[in-house]
Amino acid sequence: MRRRQFIQNASLTALGIIAFGGIKAVTRSAAAANALRVNGKRIESRIFELAKFGMDANGHGTRVAFTQADIEGRAWFTALMQRAGLNPTIDTAGNIIGKRKGKNNALKPIAFGSHIDMVPDGGNYDGTLGSIGALEVIEILNEQNLVTEHPLELIIFSNEEGGTIGSKAMVGDISKEGLQQRSQSGLTMGEGIRAIGGNPDNIQSCIRKKGDIHAWLELHIEQGGILEKEKIQIGVVEGIVGIVHWEVMVEGFANHAGATQMNMRQDALLAASKLVIAVNEVITSVKGTQVGTVGKIAVQPGAYNVIPGKVQMGLEIRDLSAEKIEMLFKEIEKRADLIAKATKTKILFERQANESKPALTDKKLQQTIHATAKSLGFSTKFMQSGAGHDTQHVGMIAPAAMIFIPSVGGISHSPKEFSTAIDMENGANVLLQTILAIDKANQ
Ligand code: GLV
Ligand code: MN
Ligand code: MN
Repeated sequence: MRRRQFIQNASLTALGIIAFGGIKAVTRSAAAANALRVNGKRIESRIFELAKFGMDANGHGTRVAFTQADIEGRAWFTALMQRAGLNPTIDTAGNIIGKRKGKNNALKPIAFGSHIDMVPDGGNYDGTLGSIGALEVIEILNEQNLVTEHPLELIIFSNEEGGTIGSKAMVGDISKEGLQQRSQSGLTMGEGIRAIGGNPDNIQSCIRKKGDIHAWLELHIEQGGILEKEKIQIGVVEGIVGIVHWEVMVEGFANHAGATQMNMRQDALLAASKLVIAVNEVITSVKGTQVGTVGKIAVQPGAYNVIPGKVQMGLEIRDLSAEKIEMLFKEIEKRADLIAKATKTKILFERQANESKPALTDKKLQQTIHATAKSLGFSTKFMQSGAGHDTQHVGMIAPAAMIFIPSVGGISHSPKEFSTAIDMENGANVLLQTILAIDKANQ
């Protein structure tokens, strides 16, 4: 019997999938822990494997949250977590949570992870690197029989790309209205959460309070071109922008495009076009790194020979200052009033639920990441994130920070998104060693 158990464990070890729960804790020297490194090849091959879920015939990614591809990708990832001994569960917001015991389970967990959903026609690195890199940390600790003082948690947040829904829910920042908002999948947020195994009727039970998590870390691609341009290996994120969305409804009058004189028209698309230009002018009229985008537009009825009667657009503003976002929006509203008068149309703005507040990351964690990256011999830069991340919400209840690696060409939210295998490996090593440093500092 004992012999059979041994053989089973030996073969599981050979496969690299032994469950942590069955292993006796081995005390390791600090030097041995410092020498631990991730398996870069395994990270890269898993990035490619996950990319297959939701890849269309043109090789483009369609793994949008709550779709069948998302459900299948999550099942694949959950199975890997299971094999790594994390006993994954799904909370009521649809977040996948895996746990690894520490030596002192009275301590609060060190948590890390990211997301595996993507924007329509997205790339294979945004979110997936942080998820696969986090799992790699667990696998290396398992393979080396290293048990941390703190328990560890791997969290894969639900629907990051559609409004960081899972992390907002976890910090109690999702309203009933927010759950009714329609997601990219066509389902409402609530329906989508149910489709992936959550329970929107009891969403509050996923809430973590301040102090429930010792520290949160997210490894991510930069999504901009600064690190690559400056030949820097590791970015230490200081702050993450706030994001606000508005649906913009422009109402004109649909009429005959041949028989209606130019001065008699109420052309909704003409008004919308002027507004797109006004948004750009307002956003660039003041100094700073704020950005504003009209990223979607639908025209009705949409025919060569009909003057557009209605236009619906999506407006987004991002900045590290919430006040600046409000100030810029007020200016855009003023310009919209003038455009509506001049074009005899009506322009209405509907602010969307599920907005993201700007957030600074934890200073002490920033320093730990920085010191860790330096000790591994990497060049570093403190920088902002122009992209939104689950980390900005987790930061409301726990010290939270992010590790960036270069994005080739600064391209993201595109099938052309790419990061090199060595940069991914470097980032995952910084994640691993930062976790060990946090663990050691707070025993
Ligand atoms: C998420 O990636 C966002 O910045 O929109
Ligand atoms: Mn992301
Ligand atoms: Mn993204």
